[in-house]
Order: sequence, then structure tokens, then C-alpha cells
Amino acid sequence: MLYPLGHTGFGEGKNQYLKAFGVPSEQLFTAIYRSEGERLLFMGALQDVWSVQGSCVLAAFDLSPFPLVCDLGGGSGALAKECVSLYPGCRVTVFDLPSVVQTAKDHFLSPEEGRIGVHEGDFFKDPLPAADLYILARVLHDWPDERCSHLLARVYEACKPGGGVLVVESLLDPDGRGPLTTQLYSLNMLVQTEGRERTPGQYRALLAAAGFGDVQCKRTPGTYGAILARK
Ligand SMILES: C[S@@+](CC[C@H](N)C(=O)[O-])C[C@H]1O[C@@H](n2cnc3c(N)ncnc32)[C@H](O)[C@@H]1O
Repeated sequence: MLYPLGHTGFGEGKNQYLKAFGVPSEQLFTAIYRSEGERLLFMGALQDVWSVQGSCVLAAFDLSPFPLVCDLGGGSGALAKECVSLYPGCRVTVFDLPSVVQTAKDHFLSPEEGRIGVHEGDFFKDPLPAADLYILARVLHDWPDERCSHLLARVYEACKPGGGVLVVESLLDPDGRGPLTTQLYSLNMLVQTEGRERTPGQYRALLAAAGFGDVQCKRTPGTYGAILARK
């Protein structure tokens, strides 16, 4: 039985986010955060991995030369908590959309976490807080190359000379044919976002195009790798 392609959505060559959620996939977070309950669910689900793998990605490089860290798109603050516990001399600002920052304050961050601050804004538009190191963990994979380039150019502009950016993502093999887990993540990105998982070479190219140098990449025993680049 053949289905009329245009009618079912098959064969359109793009995700069906608009039909499913009523918003274009460039605005995927509008749908994900459409209620407090769904926002809480998403933030809670995302944070669990960092209590297991957070120290691994943050120890891939010695980050102690960066006392002021800004975790862009830092969500619930789970990676920020790992960062202050691993680096006693550092302070972390969690930057995210206003509704996410509010939920993080209400449900995930306690006032005792004195070395973690929050800052609300849109990282595509608003001024980025000053920092020695910017973290982008599972942020670039949400977006197509053009949006990543725009964001990285903004991070480069905000970054001090000698400062850096740490990209934390699940990394594809150089030929893109594995690992299987990362390919499955990439399939998930294809269905739900305009983004994708990338190879270290693809991240290297995006970072270099934004102006960053000394790009170093480390895989970890876990699902996520770390890429450190300097201004
Ligand atoms: C896939 S989540 C990753 C969260 C966290 N970094 C982690 O690894 O668990 C992407 C994050 O980017 C945030 N985000 C999306 N668009 C944003 C924007 N325009 N400005 C600031 N944050 C944004 C989301 O709210 C979300 O917290």
C-alpha cells in the first residue's frame, strides 16, 4: 500500500515538529517548556547524567586556571554543581532562559550552593556574563551550523584573551559511522531539532571559524567528550 507522501509527512525530508507541536523546530524549547510540569520533567531528566559523568568531562582538562565559569544553557545547574565540587577555587554562573532559571532556583539549586549564581537571558541575543571559561554542554547539538556559528561568535566576543570555551557533547567517530549511542542521539536530534551530533573535526571547524585557537579534544570513558578551545 502506497501512502500519498505529502499527506503523511514521509518524503518531506524534514522533521514534523510544526505538525506535532504547532511551533517550528527552530523554537523547540517553546514546546518543551510549554508548561511548568514539562519543563521540570525535561530539566530533571537531563541532569541525572552529570552526577555520573560530570566529573569525567570536567576533569578531561585542568580547568583550575579558570576561576570564573559561565555555563551557557546550564539548565538545572547539575554540571555547575560538579564543577564547583571538582574545582574548589571556581565560581559558576548558570545562564539560561528566564523560565528555566526560575525553575532551577525553585527546584534544583539551594541557597547553600554559594559558589553558583544564575543569570537569565537568551544566549542568541542578550549580553553574556563575564567569565574566564564558557561551558556549552549539549547546547550546540540542538542547532544547525549557522546558529552554532552565531552563538560561538558571541562567546568569542565575550571571552577575554586567554579565556576559553569548553564544549561538552557526545562525539561521533571521524568517519561518522559510530559510536552507535551517538548515532542514536543524532537520530533523536534529527527528529526533534534542527541540530545533530558531530565529529571532533566538525566542532573544531566551527570553533576555528569563530576565532578560537588551540582546540583540543578528549574523549572520556563515558558517553560525552570534551573540547577545550582558547581565545
Ligand atoms: C539540551 S539542554 C542542555 C542543558 C545542560 N547544559 C545539560 O547538559 O544538561 C539545552 C539548554 O539550552 C537552553 N537554551 C536553549 N535556548 C536558549 C537560549 N536562546 N538562551 C539561553 N539558553 C537556551 C535550554 O533551556 C537548555 O537548558
